[in-house]
Amino acid sequence: MTELISIDGTASCRFAFGTMQFGDQADLAASRAMFDACIEAGITHFDTANLYTGGAAEQYLGQFIAPLRARLIIGTKIGYDAPDNVEALRSQFDMSRARLGLDSVDILYLHRFNPNLSLEAQIDLLAELQAQKQTRYLAVSNFAAWQVMKAQAIAINLGTKIDIVQPMYSLVKRQAEVEILPMCAAEGILAVTYSPLGGGLLTGKYAAGGTGRLSEDHRYGARYGLGWMHEAAAKLPEIADAVGVHPATLAVAWAASHSSRPAPILSARSLEQLRPSLDALSIKMSPEERDRLTALTPTPAPATDRIEEHG
Ligand SMILES: NC(=O)c1ccc[n+]([C@@H]2O[C@H](COP(=O)([O-])OP(=O)(O)OC[C@H]3O[C@@H](n4cnc5c(N)ncnc54)[C@H](OP(=O)(O)O)[C@@H]3O)[C@@H](O)[C@H]2O)c1
Repeated sequence: MTELISIDGTASCRFAFGTMQFGDQADLAASRAMFDACIEAGITHFDTANLYTGGAAEQYLGQFIAPLRARLIIGTKIGYDAPDNVEALRSQFDMSRARLGLDSVDILYLHRFNPNLSLEAQIDLLAELQAQKQTRYLAVSNFAAWQVMKAQAIAINLGTKIDIVQPMYSLVKRQAEVEILPMCAAEGILAVTYSPLGGGLLTGKYAAGGTGRLSEDHRYGARYGLGWMHEAAAKLPEIADAVGVHPATLAVAWAASHSSRPAPILSARSLEQLRPSLDALSIKMSPEERDRLTALTPTPAPATDRIEEHG
């Protein structure tokens, strides 16, 4: 399994923090407060993307990390909205490095599978940037398992490998359990998983009549719009109350507790929101507790039929 080690040789904590709200729902002061709280809690892995908040997320992060750089893991992503050519990817990466104030990052992701651009050319670019020491780890996000393995075959041919994948994973988005997380376990790839709170649904706030990203952004309202998702989210606070923790703490701990040992990316719009997610760092969920929460949502169908003969 890929182990994230910073430039100064420090092993990263299991959890990461995501900056998608920096410069949007979180202003500079709120972003700084969350960054400092993460450092205090032992989180040293920070996730961003060329796409986020018109560049503000990378700029804020660049400002915060400067004095601590060598002991941090900084990952960014390119290619979500780039024109379909490799030079556009390269210039997005140059732009990201400039915003971050870094010559090199630790993790460079292709943000999505782009069927309109040769995968060979994209992996070739990642490998070239790695050879030039502009990134230490190679990664892809939002790829299906077959797309990761295709990228892996190309990378291995070039003498390198895909170290990390970044899929969505939460109690209400469990598709990664079918192929991606087993693939990660089998191939030694680290899964850095995003949206552990289902965009905020698993805080229980919508069941209590609250508002947030799901009511403010129709894309998220649709992504988490199914009735069973809201029913599961409504049951979570009761279980959390019985355990004596916030529902968000349980949701994050659940995402971390998959046997493939994924690294959930925490996020929030304020320090107050972030606290319950940070509490998950000190929770070790038992298999029984995991099973109880897992039972709240449907298990996705297996990747192949005819599983009755060999279980
Ligand atoms: N690779 C990709 O394509 C991709 C996609 C998405 C995210 N990511 C990465 O993953 C990170 C996390 O994703 P995410 O923001 O979707 O994670 P999430 O944990 O599912 O959702 C975080 C959101 O939940 C709400 N929330 C959090 N704590 C709360 C609390 N205590 N009470 C009430 N509401 C609370 C806040 O939104 P509201 O207050 O607005 O409701 C917050 O912004 C991102 O920053 C980014 O780095 C990557």
